[in-house]
Amino acid sequence: MTHIATIFDPFRPLPTAERSRQLDAYLAFLRERDGEPDMQARTLSERERFFDALDQAPHRSSIEIDANAFADGLAGAAVTDRRLVWLLAAAKANRGERYGVDLVLDKGDPPTLPHDVFVPLEEVYHTRILLDACAIFGLEFTFEPPPARTRRLIALMERSPEWMRLPVILCGEVTGAALFQLLLDELDLFKDDPEAVARLRMLLESILVDELGHVAYCRARIGRTGLRAARALLPTVASGIVTDIPEVAQLAGGADRFIERVKGFEVAHDIGVQATAFRPD
Ligand SMILES: [Fe+2]
Ligand SMILES: [Fe+2]
Repeated sequence: MTHIATIFDPFRPLPTAERSRQLDAYLAFLRERDGEPDMQARTLSERERFFDALDQAPHRSSIEIDANAFADGLAGAAVTDRRLVWLLAAAKANRGERYGVDLVLDKGDPPTLPHDVFVPLEEVYHTRILLDACAIFGLEFTFEPPPARTRRLIALMERSPEWMRLPVILCGEVTGAALFQLLLDELDLFKDDPEAVARLRMLLESILVDELGHVAYCRARIGRTGLRAARALLPTVASGIVTDIPEVAQLAGGADRFIERVKGFEVAHDIGVQATAFRPD
């Protein structure tokens, strides 16, 4: 498989006709990728099949990870072991998104667009995927909400009008995508166990494809002015996420390096094409 790097610009304004074409194509893509949504049960039929297949072929790595140090790291203690840093970044990666999605799902408002049935449910699966990733090393954790400051920000956003909310959400999706790309780029940490690497790659790529879809979906919903605002907001949102998950900065070689990655946002071409089947830039 050849990976040709391409830069997908999440803030490039699109002509109106192209925006609605992408929204239609994305909905078709979601229906095919996710299957039937069940809002009550919070499931997607194709994702259930994905997990059934995973459960049938579990992998327990021989790589030893200190479960106590992992638990301490989840509680906020600093760690230095790079494998632990990676696993903690993964375990905390979708706390913010998941918290926001739970607020929306619990409120139970009818979705604005049909896509909004699928996108929040995908986030529910991201938690499950990340649990599965940690389980490879015998690590367990329960979903914890993000720190109080971030919770307040997310709750405030939930109550804001869409024109204010969407640019911030776009920044969150872009930062999330860059974070999952970073985790993929650092998989060599586990190279002593090629099977673990393969499984982690498969799990993380499935999240990255979703996240790239969320990025493109958000972009298609925002006009020129909103996208300009989003581009300006990006470093602030990205540094907020680094503050919440210090392991991300550790993994990237510093907060600034991570923010540069977020601003550059390069993704492997083949993943970008999958997620934006409706057209990569
Ligand atoms: Fe996510
Ligand atoms: Fe997302």
